[in-house]
Amino acid sequence: MIRTEKLTKNYGKDRGVFNLDLNVPRGKIYGFVGPNGAGKTTTIKMLCGLVKPDSGKAFVGDVQITPGNIPKIKRKTGYMPDIFGVYEQMSVWEYLDFYGAAFKIAPKARRKRIEEVLALTESSHMIDYQVTSLSRGMRQRIGLAKTMMHDPEILILDEPAGGLDPTARIEMRQTISRLRSLGKTILLSSHILPELSSVCDLVGIIFKGRLLAQGTVKEISASLQEKIIINVTVDSDIAEARSVLERIACVESVKTLEQNVLQCMFTGAREQVKSVLRLLVENKVVVRWFSEEEVDLEDVFINITKRA
Ligand SMILES: Nc1ncnc2c1ncn2[C@@H]1O[C@H](COP(=O)(O)OP(=O)(O)O)[C@@H](O)[C@H]1O
Ligand SMILES: [Mg+2]
Repeated sequence: MIRTEKLTKNYGKDRGVFNLDLNVPRGKIYGFVGPNGAGKTTTIKMLCGLVKPDSGKAFVGDVQITPGNIPKIKRKTGYMPDIFGVYEQMSVWEYLDFYGAAFKIAPKARRKRIEEVLALTESSHMIDYQVTSLSRGMRQRIGLAKTMMHDPEILILDEPAGGLDPTARIEMRQTISRLRSLGKTILLSSHILPELSSVCDLVGIIFKGRLLAQGTVKEISASLQEKIIINVTVDSDIAEARSVLERIACVESVKTLEQNVLQCMFTGAREQVKSVLRLLVENKVVVRWFSEEEVDLEDVFINITKRA
């Protein structure tokens, strides 16, 4: 649904975005992650037609982003900027009505649509609040409601959880998951890695304007060929279990985590992990629990940026 080919915006002094090849499939949530200054907002603005690329191409659906196609792109996409202003002296209802009018939704349909977007973002109770009185979390929800007014197929959200407290972040995650269930394609950015990773199907890691990796966290991690961490809980003699593990060629090190839990660094291929379990069992170790440590987006990110 969103695709770029060597998309570039050069601000000089190695700042900007360089040769970006993004690929966001239909109906997926794509997390665009990278530290401050990595180029997330610049990329997003190019996708919305707000910043003109120096070179490369970008497509939203089948439509190439060109000045002539901007109105078409605007109908297809909903964009929520990282920082957005609200007009003084406006209620939430007036604010949404204003944006609905800007999208040329007829007054009667607008009223119904406002109710729908407020329900979607669980903000119905805020309809008569003054926009300037809203907390950051409330404002983000109203911002999302505004972005949904014209029922776009694609949502592009720049740091939707930025500055939110933990409760508001959880609510934002739930709202985003709800939007996915409506079949929306969502690209969202974040500089706080674990923040939204749990709702993302795919991630793209951007660093100094370059896309370093793209895919599921598992895929990216596997492509890095990291060591696999295996945790083993045993119900028999731990020293014996330890010596069995230490004799395995692809086991680099073993440490005792708890009284009956061992952790080993496995340097072999992922398909060989099962042979570790087999060797334990063959050597009469009573294994209660055997698991590969879950990959964490933050670890993946740190490894990738270290290489870069
Ligand atoms: N209009 C601009 N003029 C010059 N440099 C810019 C401009 N916009 C962004 N930059 C620079 O481009 C880099 C990427 O910025 P940005 O896309 O805002 O990053 P992010 O959103 O990932 O924090 C930064 O080094 C920033 O200073
Ligand atoms: Mg930004």
